[in-house]
Amino acid sequence: MRRSKRIIMQKVFVVGSPSFCEDCVKNIEGQYGFRVLGAAYSKEEAALLIADLSPDILIVDADVNEGGINVGEQLKKQREDIIVFIASDYSSIDLLQRAIAKGLNGIVKKPVSAAALADAVEKAKKCGTCQITDEGQSKEIFVFYAPKGGVGKTTLAVNLSGLIASQKGKNMKIAVADLDVWANVQSMLQLKGGRSIADWDLYLDNFNPEELRNYVVTHPLGFDIIPGIKRITEAGIFTAEFTSKFFEVVQNIYDLIIVDTNSTINDGTTVAFEKATRIFVIGTLEVPTLKGLNDLKEVFDLLGVSMHKIRMVLNRIPEKPDISIKEVAQLIPFPLIAKIKENPEVRVAVNRGEIYAVTHPDSEFRYEIAKLAAGIIGLEQEISQRQKGFFKFGAKRLR
Ligand SMILES: Nc1ncnc2c1ncn2[C@@H]1O[C@H](COP(=O)(O)OP(=O)(O)O)[C@@H](O)[C@H]1O
Ligand SMILES: [Mg+2]
Repeated sequence: MRRSKRIIMQKVFVVGSPSFCEDCVKNIEGQYGFRVLGAAYSKEEAALLIADLSPDILIVDADVNEGGINVGEQLKKQREDIIVFIASDYSSIDLLQRAIAKGLNGIVKKPVSAAALADAVEKAKKCGTCQITDEGQSKEIFVFYAPKGGVGKTTLAVNLSGLIASQKGKNMKIAVADLDVWANVQSMLQLKGGRSIADWDLYLDNFNPEELRNYVVTHPLGFDIIPGIKRITEAGIFTAEFTSKFFEVVQNIYDLIIVDTNSTINDGTTVAFEKATRIFVIGTLEVPTLKGLNDLKEVFDLLGVSMHKIRMVLNRIPEKPDISIKEVAQLIPFPLIAKIKENPEVRVAVNRGEIYAVTHPDSEFRYEIAKLAAGIIGLEQEISQRQKGFFKFGAKRLR
């Protein structure tokens, strides 16, 4: 397990029963640069003290009155930049998902140790929540997947890449890798050149970074496209061995790899799920999609894919949905992080090879895409700006 060696003072505040707070002080105070500034036994007391003490990290006992998640959520509203963990007796995926869905940063196990807290904080700073990344992995791999085609996987993958590239510039090396057997990332962006991913088979054996530019296509926004197969007869390339080797090599070159896939799960997709630090499952408001999602959860369980890294995105939501989003959100087995409306302008942009989230910085579409980049491009700033915009124009939001 890797840990930052630099010690920076971090102010901690704890909320819970007297014995929980005492344990925290005993185990955390003075270690890894943590200072436990204060403790509160109730939400009201905590609200007052947090305003005074401005802690960096808040640990809320899951068993506190009204429930740790509710209390954590309300306290986080007071100070958006505070890192909030729920302390629990057991590492429950359900609790973790609920915490993340409420915008909290994850769970830590009781009794909370300074070492575990340091790890959780490091991960939260890196990717917004703890327990998203696999231990020791420093590069991000975002996989877009859907049990159904035509739901917007490629559109969203391309928009996310463009948005992050436009914000991070040269500070982040980004690639979109097309692992779809019906590859179309490159054609969606209307860019020519590069080689088929099938040509990487030989290239990987004698990898030479200087030749990389022959294999990829660089988008004007600065991110690279790793084109998919050029004809369907090459689809056999996606074996577990090839795909694993591919990720090992590209992970050394890029900080963020955004992977587009097809709905059929082949060995390549399975490896992508395993390597992913986040999996965005894309769905639409249609009954067959919703059924597919439950089957998908079973598949993820069977494959041993960690639930912590899965996020759900609803796309192409009609202006007047005939199924209630609220009901759907309760039915889907993954935390829902973005709700994207059907937007004819997005379709037009796709047909022109444009990246709508970049060409339309004030759009709701861009705001939802930014949520997928949480932890990479200051989401909180995005949200507060967006909310100001909403209040100003009195626009309606989906939720
Ligand atoms: N939010 C949206 N609003 C309108 N059209 C969209 C939206 N998202 C995707 N589309 C359109 O849906 C179609 C399928 O998208 P695509 O990204 O190719 O799906 P997939 O990769 O899942 O097969 C494209 O024509 C695209 O322009
Ligand atoms: Mg696609």
